[in-house]
Amino acid sequence: MRTGNEAPHPRNAYVNGKVVPIAEASISILDRGFLFGDGVYEVTAILNGQLVDNPAHLARLERSLSEIGLRSPVPLSELPERMQSFVTSEGVREGMLYLQITRGADTSRAFPFPDPEKIPPTLVMFAMEKKLIDAPVAETGTRAITVPDIRWSRRDIKSVSLLGQVLCKQAAVAAGVDEALLVEDGFITEGSSSGVCILTRNDVLVSRPARRDLLDSITRKAAHLLAGELSIPIEERPFTSEEALNAKEVFCTSASTLIHGVVAIDGHMIGDGKPGPVTRRLRELYLEIAGSEPVIVHNPVFP
Ligand code: PDD
Repeated sequence: MRTGNEAPHPRNAYVNGKVVPIAEASISILDRGFLFGDGVYEVTAILNGQLVDNPAHLARLERSLSEIGLRSPVPLSELPERMQSFVTSEGVREGMLYLQITRGADTSRAFPFPDPEKIPPTLVMFAMEKKLIDAPVAETGTRAITVPDIRWSRRDIKSVSLLGQVLCKQAAVAAGVDEALLVEDGFITEGSSSGVCILTRNDVLVSRPARRDLLDSITRKAAHLLAGELSIPIEERPFTSEEALNAKEVFCTSASTLIHGVVAIDGHMIGDGKPGPVTRRLRELYLEIAGSEPVIVHNPVFP
């Protein structure tokens, strides 16, 4: 029985075409996602019961799959409909959908890819309720620490091999804060589970270009578009942790927390220690638009 104090959790899971209660959902312990972290995933925000900017998430999924030589067990063109109807049948109005595709269960536990004709990939989804609109973090902001970016070199692939991110996030939690900003050669790459942007003292939005060393955050792309609408100049270039410490505003972007301010880094207050006005405006605009229409320009591959 739910007591009301528990965190929301998924009711059912979609496992290879079947919807089953979460407690009964299972895959083989030989699944390569479990044994090797051999798979990719997406997290899409749900607002008003609708998947937000899902075409962009599917385009990134398609790219992740292609980069690891994995074919979706369901034609990608059918995924939008399956994802949305699963969300609707789960009754989730605000929260997120998790989707994962792994290279299936192969009895040999051999490192090379198994024959995809013999070993079908595994596709799972689940949906969770989460307060995205009235999220407490929007008011309080996030406190962060900087930690070395210890991850592998293909961070553009949304891989389920997340041990690097887990260790970085845990370092943040152990330090009593919410997010870890990952630093490589003095430059911030991204957060442990978010993109990062800074607003300089000259009111320029600075954001690291999407290359192989970070995930191309869909929410960050949306933030760039919205900043453009507010006539805020954008510079896509790497920025140092020093620049972040001295910035007017710093914010993180992710499908699970949308756009939210970073109010302290390594114990140094950013701005006045509250989410800044530009961050708040971008978040407001995002919520206004994402609740009813795509924020990101439509990708014609996925209707
Ligand atoms: N993570 N960078 C990393 C390392 C991430 O894990 C995420 C999101 C992002 C933001 O990407 P997007 O705006 O497309 O969600 C950037 C998700 C939410 C997660 O793993 O739960």
